[in-house]
Amino acid sequence: MEFETRAIHVGQEPDEQTGAVMPPIYATSTFAQIRPGETRGYDYTRSGNPNFTRLGRTLASLEGGRHATVFANGMAAITAVISTLSSGDLVLAEENVYGCTFRIFARVFEKFGVRVQYVDFTERASLDSIAREAPALVWLESPTNPMLKILDIAAISRVASAQGIPVLVDNTFASPYFQRPLELGATLSLSSTTKYVNGHSDCLGGVVVTNDDEWQEKMLFAQKAVGLNPSPFDAWLVQRGVKTLALRMQKHHANALAIAERLEGSRAVKWVRHPFLPSHPQYEVARRQMHGGSGIVTLELDADLERTTAFVSGLGIFALAESLGGIESLVDHPASMTHASIPRPEREKVGIFDGLVRLSVGIEDVDDLIGDLDRGLRHAGLPGLAGGAA
Ligand SMILES: Cc1ncc(COP(=O)(O)O)c(C=O)c1O
Repeated sequence: MEFETRAIHVGQEPDEQTGAVMPPIYATSTFAQIRPGETRGYDYTRSGNPNFTRLGRTLASLEGGRHATVFANGMAAITAVISTLSSGDLVLAEENVYGCTFRIFARVFEKFGVRVQYVDFTERASLDSIAREAPALVWLESPTNPMLKILDIAAISRVASAQGIPVLVDNTFASPYFQRPLELGATLSLSSTTKYVNGHSDCLGGVVVTNDDEWQEKMLFAQKAVGLNPSPFDAWLVQRGVKTLALRMQKHHANALAIAERLEGSRAVKWVRHPFLPSHPQYEVARRQMHGGSGIVTLELDADLERTTAFVSGLGIFALAESLGGIESLVDHPASMTHASIPRPEREKVGIFDGLVRLSVGIEDVDDLIGDLDRGLRHAGLPGLAGGAA
């Protein structure tokens, strides 16, 4: 079955008992046992629930993997993976990871002796550091949040797997519709399903998909032992949202690319980035490993903090909000919102300056979105998209 069909039918079969076409929500904390220790497959929702089983089947299928474990949110999925490490283990990580990924290493797991070394994985020399440093885990994110750097997952995975080193890819920005890290050689594909996979900004979720039986055991253990499970209702919402992933992603991509092209011609911006814009520094890699560039556009305004703030606050359709990947357009100011947890020097080292803006382009009419951006620029005293100064 093709992706679109699997999104609607794998793990989405009618309920066996009643024939309900939409699966029921198993809103239960516990399950009656037949005899002590003899269950019907479930004992307690922290360690499993039919809604998790169904969603795991759907997401494993869409990522092209054998196993999936679902979590309460993306950070819970990240916690599950890091919790498998031991004191003294080294993680070799891409330097432009999501702010809270940086924070959980720095403020939580480094206390327990997990070491992290950040490198720029778009540079060839970083591939050599995999063999030299022999880390316990390579941590990638592609496209990265918010710079949209594209890392060559296949090349990095080849080098790491030759040394027996597992590679994790945070696939949140691409979604499995546009990128499937396991097919490119990664060991683990992690997503915040809060974003594109659910797509409606109405719940939180996370997932780790793998083909490796041992990793799957570790993920299930972390789910129950650390208490990282989602609620059955949230799992059900993700399962409902994911059915339309393909259609949504096509429209996100088309709208985002049209907006990126439009912004690229504007005097208000220093640069604009979208993976499928030919000016993107890793355009060739993006075209090779992604089927589409997704819905995020990152740009740096030629403006100070005051004007940038006026721009992001002055938009009408784009809501000023954290998060991304929903059908509605959102705008984020990373330096003061999503990436504020990264100290300024580290933030600026990867390019997160005060003029940086991240757009999560929704599936509204693209001309309405362009009109909104134009008005926002003029409101901030910047040249509008038609080219004229305010
Ligand atoms: C790339 C990436 N990974 C992980 C997360 C964390 O996901 P959640 O907010 O569902 O915990 C986010 C959230 O923005 C993200 O952008």
